[in-house]
Amino acid sequence: MKLTIAVLAGDGIGPEIVGQGMKAIKAICNKYGHELHDKEALVGAVAIDAAGNPYPEETHELCMESDAVFFGAIGDPKYDSNPSAKVRPEQGLLAMRKKLGLYANIRPVTTFPSLIHKSPLRADLINGADFMCIRELTGGMYFGRPQGRSEDGDTAYDTCIYSREEVDRIVRLAYTYAQKRRKKVTVVDKANVLATSRLWRQVAQEIEKDYPDVETEYMFVDNAAMRIIQWPKSFDVMVTENMFGDILTDEASVITGSLGMLPSASIGIHTSVFEPIHGSYPQAAGKNIANPLATILSAALMFEYAFNLMEEGKVIRDAVTASMDAAIVTEDIAEQGKAYTTSEVGDWIADYINHL
Ligand code: IPM
Ligand code: MG
Repeated sequence: MKLTIAVLAGDGIGPEIVGQGMKAIKAICNKYGHELHDKEALVGAVAIDAAGNPYPEETHELCMESDAVFFGAIGDPKYDSNPSAKVRPEQGLLAMRKKLGLYANIRPVTTFPSLIHKSPLRADLINGADFMCIRELTGGMYFGRPQGRSEDGDTAYDTCIYSREEVDRIVRLAYTYAQKRRKKVTVVDKANVLATSRLWRQVAQEIEKDYPDVETEYMFVDNAAMRIIQWPKSFDVMVTENMFGDILTDEASVITGSLGMLPSASIGIHTSVFEPIHGSYPQAAGKNIANPLATILSAALMFEYAFNLMEEGKVIRDAVTASMDAAIVTEDIAEQGKAYTTSEVGDWIADYINHL
């Protein structure tokens, strides 16, 4: 099969972790005889430095003509300390989401037996937890207008907007995934306060009838935040709006033991993007210490979701599990013993795939 991939490494540790992901992707393509066409492009702070735009037109065109986008991270501390900077790296990410129509961000939360002791939660609470957060990604407060300040600068406002169509397509997607899993959907909203949430709930209640084989649960977001740490095993597929999803997925990511382990897929109208959920981790950039596993697992999601190549995805996942069982891991998840570098972990995994 011919696989055309845009490679957007971005900022901070982006180039290092994406490099390891590419090693795994190339090993898989060799093994299964896929013809890989990969091309790099700039995004984030590096794109601002080179082109004055965090998501240059050239990058957008490359993404549009690719079957999938393999993405690292964006963000640079020099912008965080300067709230009045006119162009920010994050705008590149938001522009990419909007222009590629990446309406659904999928973040699977699974536990790894060898990491359970690293979780802030008790082992019996999380052992076997396995759920999926589906976050709406192109609507809500992130994109709603008007947004800004009053003339005197002393009042600020954001607008949360959702249309029936936006809610409909993501809620249906949640049901489709639930049908392939444990057949439960939790719709997370704040329908006791927000008008947009009441629309979400109304639309979901209508859609629910089309999926009688799936159990539906409605939950307020504050309660969901509590339940994620109290009883994570009660969730199967959770679906929610953009801002709630942003917050809940960070919360969910730590229960598995390390933020460095979680991949994500953003399903789009034009193409889909695969990236680790952690950020650009600037303190580690260039040190060859960052954990590449979330990025390598994102490559697994890419084979599965963008190309429907399930076996290839599973082989990558198995290789990651094998590296953890063999304790070939970076310092964030290493035991007292030796920690390996980013590239050593990447090489080991590519090697494992080559020798299968
Ligand atoms: C995420 C990030 C982004 C978001 C930031 C970097 C704009 O936190 O992907 O979750 O808020 O969506
Ligand atoms: Mg976030």
